[in-house]
Amino acid sequence: MKKSKTCIFKCSSCGHEEPKWLGRCPECGEWNTLIETSISGALSGALRTSARRGSATKTEQGIPRSLPLSAIDPQEGNRVSSGIGELDRVLGGGIMKRSAILVGGEPGIGKSTLLLQAAAAAETTGRILYISGEESAGQVRMRADRLGLLAGPEDNRSKQAGQAERIEIVCSARLEDISAILDAVKPVIIIVDSVQTLFSPEIGLVPGTVNQMKYCSFELISWVKEHDAALFLVAHVTKDGIIAGPKTLEHMVDTVLYFEQNDQASGGSLDSRFLRASKNRFGSVDELGIFTMGEKGLKEVKDPSTLFLIQREGELPPGVAAAAVLEGSRCFLVEIQALTVPAKGSLSRVYSDRIDSGRVSRVAATLEKHLKLRLQDHDLYINVAGGIRINEVGVELALAGAIYSARTGLALPSQTALAGELSLAGEVRPVRRLNTRIKTSRSLGFGRFFGPGADSGETEAALADSDGIHRITSVKNAITLLFTQ
Ligand code: TYD
Ligand code: MG
Repeated sequence: MKKSKTCIFKCSSCGHEEPKWLGRCPECGEWNTLIETSISGALSGALRTSARRGSATKTEQGIPRSLPLSAIDPQEGNRVSSGIGELDRVLGGGIMKRSAILVGGEPGIGKSTLLLQAAAAAETTGRILYISGEESAGQVRMRADRLGLLAGPEDNRSKQAGQAERIEIVCSARLEDISAILDAVKPVIIIVDSVQTLFSPEIGLVPGTVNQMKYCSFELISWVKEHDAALFLVAHVTKDGIIAGPKTLEHMVDTVLYFEQNDQASGGSLDSRFLRASKNRFGSVDELGIFTMGEKGLKEVKDPSTLFLIQREGELPPGVAAAAVLEGSRCFLVEIQALTVPAKGSLSRVYSDRIDSGRVSRVAATLEKHLKLRLQDHDLYINVAGGIRINEVGVELALAGAIYSARTGLALPSQTALAGELSLAGEVRPVRRLNTRIKTSRSLGFGRFFGPGADSGETEAALADSDGIHRITSVKNAITLLFTQ
């Protein structure tokens, strides 16, 4: 009897498969990377995983079976608090069991620190496994000591001290070893630091390729879905380029968090870090987590309302306006700074990395059109104090105020907060939760508030008095009121 073919050739760089040997991989273009592999070995992983995933909805013959939607367990209430309020909020109310969370950010931003702190503080009695492919166990221990997570001298101990005893460390990046440890330890929270170090010999010899990352992550995700655990995958993402790797994992995980930092040049006095969700199957994506990095790790900023304001005595300089913005469920005030200088070339440009430059250009164009402000031969620089990125539309009125003030050299009145969206027709449009913004501004000593006539449909408790509140309908109206009183 003729023996069936049992070998294929697999690229050790990208995982591409060919029925016969080739000198160069047609997929990734690498030379001499095709290696003979047995078919059973190559397929077993994928088959195993797909069988596992569908196990609950399969009949005894292994054929997938449909179930009425109402018969499915919604897995509600299956959350574990990470013990870190800011992280819980960004996650949508805690760590969802059976979920995979990708935590991306530049090297050195504090991903390992955040997750080690969360591992120590998480409100669970189960075991926690920290898989370190980058640092030695000793290094992780040193960090834990620095953070005061282990029972040590009284003065160096944080409130989570002692809880960190249940964290177990494994320094390996080989998927097969990790799988064996998972089956033995059965942790409830798994932290993989980092996903770029994972590898499985089944996918080739080179760790860190996109295929290695995808394959290994998929196996680990399947494990947590089955075992009622949660998985954190740390991914290094750099501004210029290497984003392609971890990006390919985004569709496989339930939640994608990005950790970012202000640059020191932006005027923030504190070393603040921001945590945002860019995808969340179990919550909203507009919550913002704020931390400061200190000597003993990350500290939560529970009340950020004044973190992004610069305290000044007396008059404001031109080009500065205070905006009352909403980030997720929280309202705070931020200082918007604008600067206009004669353009260096024949084209004027917008330099803004904290507020979308498309939004800045649109607001500038609205001012040119409706207030005849000459901007076409000027470069425009926009910054936000404290280096926070603002994505909220309610910032537009303050942005208009700051640009107008910068270009004309007239300062805005002090202790004045603004909120409102601008339409291209120069109208000031309603924004969400206007009264919350007014109340927050007042509580911080802003006596005057400029905003649209009403909020956008949401019913809110009416304000007791309307002292100092200016309800305006157009940007022209707002600028006239702001700069002539
Ligand atoms: P780390 O968590 O290692 O970053 P990542 O895992 O994202 O690469 O954080 C490293 C930086 O944080 C490093 O520059 C040192 C600093 N750091 C502190 O300032 N205080 C601390 O308590 C710790 C643990 C780190
Ligand atoms: Mg790290």
